[in-house]
Amino acid sequence: MENQKPETGRFSEWIAPIRAENDRLTAANGKRPGAHLLTFGCQQNVADSEKIAGLAEAMGYEIVGTPEEADLIVVNTCAVREHAEKKALSIIGQFKHLKAKNPDLILALCGCMVTQPHRAEEIKKRYPYVDIVFGTGALHLFPQLLWEKKQTGKRRMVPDVTETIIAEGIPVRRESGYRAWVSIMYGCNNFCTYCIVPYVRGRERSRDHACIERELEELVKSGCKDITLLGQNVNSYGKDRADGFDFADLLAKLDAIPGDYTLRFMTSHPKDASRKLIDVMAKSTHVAHQFHLPLQAGSDAVLRRMNRKYTTAQYLETVDYLRGKMPDVTLSSDIIVGFPGETDEDFAGTLEMLERVRFDMIFSFIYSPRKGTPAAEMEDQVPPDVQHARFDRLLALQNEIAKEKNQPLLGKPLRVLCDGKSKNNPALLSGRTDGNKIAFFEGEETNTGRFVTFVADRADAYALYGSIREERTGSENDRNI
Ligand code: 5AD
Ligand code: SF4
Repeated sequence: MENQKPETGRFSEWIAPIRAENDRLTAANGKRPGAHLLTFGCQQNVADSEKIAGLAEAMGYEIVGTPEEADLIVVNTCAVREHAEKKALSIIGQFKHLKAKNPDLILALCGCMVTQPHRAEEIKKRYPYVDIVFGTGALHLFPQLLWEKKQTGKRRMVPDVTETIIAEGIPVRRESGYRAWVSIMYGCNNFCTYCIVPYVRGRERSRDHACIERELEELVKSGCKDITLLGQNVNSYGKDRADGFDFADLLAKLDAIPGDYTLRFMTSHPKDASRKLIDVMAKSTHVAHQFHLPLQAGSDAVLRRMNRKYTTAQYLETVDYLRGKMPDVTLSSDIIVGFPGETDEDFAGTLEMLERVRFDMIFSFIYSPRKGTPAAEMEDQVPPDVQHARFDRLLALQNEIAKEKNQPLLGKPLRVLCDGKSKNNPALLSGRTDGNKIAFFEGEETNTGRFVTFVADRADAYALYGSIREERTGSENDRNI
């Protein structure tokens, strides 16, 4: 397949006139117009929102914390489960009264939910006060759509998935100075039968590896300590390009960037988590010994109907290989319960896989039918009460396992990147271990964004609790869970 050309510049020409207008308003009102962003869904959406915020700032907006202060509101939506869609629609509904108060307020929607044709149609008809809609493939058109809306007063909607464009050079306003999300590819070709993502994010497009490398070099130079490479299936990186450079090659290349930082990635599809990749991780300097490997279900019959293209036996082989190469690897997974046709026996298979693999962490979901996907049309949809009962059993088992898995870490010095005050308990600081486990400890807020050496004296299923040692003893080569 031909390599796609990075698309640059299409957004720049629209930024300047909006900036000029906002600068005039700033001079007249003594403050910048405000832009407020709301993000639903996965890290890919968080990364997209950082670009939207970057564009908004470049256009002369100040990012504000509440919708009431805003002259521009952007809601970045998710479609992966019904719950996320309902929440977004309810919030969009609440913004109607803000528009009534401030007729100049511009309301923009983007992301996966609005990229579905039936939702775009619904917005068009039932939410007439929404001014701008742009799909996941049209993020770079945001400044142009905003300018056109401002010029004509007419609503602008481009809800499609643009398949050939990789927009490079969009300004990014990162939430954190020390943790960063870097998309390395977009889209998905896998068509798991329950999943809406391939329909709303289009086919796989990989970024040029030199562009990714430059971005990482700049991040490390700016003091970033923890970088997560993002893609729906990072193992497919490069398959759409002609240069034969795959994900393992990319990881090896990025790992060679010198500095004191951790490199992570997600998500990996078990069908193509290659030994080459695992070997690169095991030998690397910066790549965390952490692997997110979504199993989804522990029954081969269900995996087949999900179109996952691996068996539980193959999954276990990959886990064995990972643990053989990195005995300290932290493993996490996604599990769906109540997929159509899932029997008690199928579900028992999922519980058995949890017992066999003993994940450190799982993200579990009740199956949610998505319009347009094959699974939504399957017979034998599992009744909600059965789904919920299975979900509770899954969580109870996983909680036991996670708590047990944390016990051997007690008393051991662990490297933790400090995130500052805990949101739930401001008396404590929180952070993440190299294995991405949550740690809580007392200490000075000046540790935020720094690696500290942490020792846990207690652990539950979700977190480690302990204290920090005075000095960080580790070097960039020390690595622990
Ligand atoms: N219902 C429930 N969970 C889903 N996921 C994706 N689609 C659905 C759905 N229709 C879960 C999968 C995936 C994670 C990101 O979301 O487990 O790995
Ligand atoms: Fe969805 Fe499957 Fe693609 Fe993941 S690999 S985004 S679950 S279709």
